[in-house]
Formats: sequence, C-alpha cells, structure tokens
Amino acid sequence: MKKAIVIGASSGIGRELAIRLSKGGYLVGVTGRRVELLEEIKEMFPQQILVKKMDVTNTEEAMKNFEDLIGDLGGLDLIIINAGFGHINKELNWEPEKHTIEVNALGFTAMVNVAYRYFREEKKGCIVGISSIAGIRGSSYAPAYSASKAFISNYLEGVRCLSKKEKSHIKIIDVKPGFVDTAMARGDKVFWMAPVEKAAKQILVAIEKGREKVIVTKRWAIIMRLMKILPEWIYSKL
Ligand SMILES: NC(=O)c1ccc[n+]([C@@H]2O[C@H](COP(=O)([O-])OP(=O)(O)OC[C@H]3O[C@@H](n4cnc5c(N)ncnc54)[C@H](OP(=O)(O)O)[C@@H]3O)[C@@H](O)[C@H]2O)c1
Repeated sequence: MKKAIVIGASSGIGRELAIRLSKGGYLVGVTGRRVELLEEIKEMFPQQILVKKMDVTNTEEAMKNFEDLIGDLGGLDLIIINAGFGHINKELNWEPEKHTIEVNALGFTAMVNVAYRYFREEKKGCIVGISSIAGIRGSSYAPAYSASKAFISNYLEGVRCLSKKEKSHIKIIDVKPGFVDTAMARGDKVFWMAPVEKAAKQILVAIEKGREKVIVTKRWAIIMRLMKILPEWIYSKL
C-alpha cells in the first residue's frame, strides 16, 4: 500500500487531496491544528487515515511529529506540503506579516527538511509544495504572502537541483494554484475561481505524471505569462 502525508489537510485543497488519495488506495497521514476536522476525514476512511496534530510554526515539535507519523505509517512515498496562511494586509500590520512568513516559509522549510532527508536515505520519494501564482510578482495587497510563495517556489527549485545532482531520485513538484474556492480565497473579489475538486484532481494528475511545475487550474497559465511581462509602472496601478 502506498503511503502519503498531507500537511494541512483539515480544510480546502489539503482535505480534498487527502480524501482523493484515500479513495485511490493510499494510506494517508493527515495533519493540522484543527484535529476535530481531521477526525472527520478519518471517520470517512477509518482504515486508511492516521491523524496527527501539528502546528508547523512550532518547527522542532512539528518536525518530530512528522518523523513519528512516517514511523506510524510504516514508511512514506509522497508528501504534500499544503499548509498555508494568507491575509490581505495593505496596512502592513506586523502580526499577520509575521505569521504568514512563519507558516509559509519557516514551517514549509522545516517540512521539506525532514522529507528530503528521509527520502534521500530511501533513494526515492516525492515532495510536493503548494505555492501560488501570487508568488510570480510582489503583491501590494498581501506583500508577505506573495513573497512567501516566491520563497516556496525558489526553495523547491533549489532542492530539485540538489536531488538531480545527488541522483537521489526524489521528485520535487511545485504546484501553483490560481484562485480556488476555499475559506482562504472567499470574500475576495475573485474571478476564475476553481472548485476545490477540480484543483485537487489536476494536482494529483500532475503528481502521477511527475511534472516538476504545474499551474492549477490550467487557464491560470495565461495570467502567469501576462503578469511576468507587465511593466512595473502598469503593474503597480493594479
Ligand atoms: N485558495 C486559493 O485560492 C489558493 C490559491 C493559491 C494558493 N493556495 C494555497 O493552497 C494551500 C491550501 O489553502 P486553502 O485554499 O485550501 O486554504 P485553507 O482551507 O485555509 O487550508 C489551509 C490549511 O493549512 C493548514 N494550516 C494553516 N496554518 C497552519 C499551521 N500553523 N500549522 C499547520 N497547518 C496549518 C490549515 O490547517 P489548520 O488550520 O487545522 O492548522 C488548513 O488545513 C495554501 O498553501 C494556500 O496558500 C490557495
């Protein structure tokens, strides 16, 4: 039986990924702070879900919990690091900026660290990070969020190059979602909002195909290309 862990599986994209992996026959470790929501997933697949409470911002404890969870599962083939925090923060209040960096950059790095070292020993494995199309440019609406997502993409690229150099046979996949209909995106003025089921399905297909970088849903590739070439004097007015 293949084994996967979804970091941040209590709601939204992570929850849908955990459910789909279970339906696909995986044994799945699910983590997050809201254990009661994780237990709901376990009730759906009692034989296939292992729950572990985890706050990725408590890095030392989270890394230990992650290692324990790999032991409880009896190994690991796939890790999806999905936990994330985003906040519109034009006022540049410190707490949300700090928390965003703690979850999306510090917590994320801690999880990759454990996963990479584990898979290096195994000489196989797959690490998936959920960044965002927001990482392509700095955002005046959520500066820490866009910067932290750029960090994720950049970090994954570095680790992918390391894996290739070391011939460690670890697949490293960067998933960049556009807007997906979850608690995080709700309330914003959003367009092209993808249902969470569609986004999760595309993510799992990309993992199966072993693609290194993937934009979900696919139509967001157009926006990515436009954002990349837009001069800053226009971009700054958006
Ligand atoms: N929705 C979008 O439009 C969109 C677009 C681009 C990228 N993304 C990215 O997709 C990922 C999933 O987001 P979502 O839209 O599905 O939002 P969501 O429903 O709010 O899910 C966020 C998940 O992250 C977990 N999490 C947050 N802080 C955590 C912490 N300190 N420790 C451990 N887990 C933590 C949450 O679990 P607990 O609260 O239980 O801890 C939850 O399971 C995020 O990385 C997000 O940045 C989303």
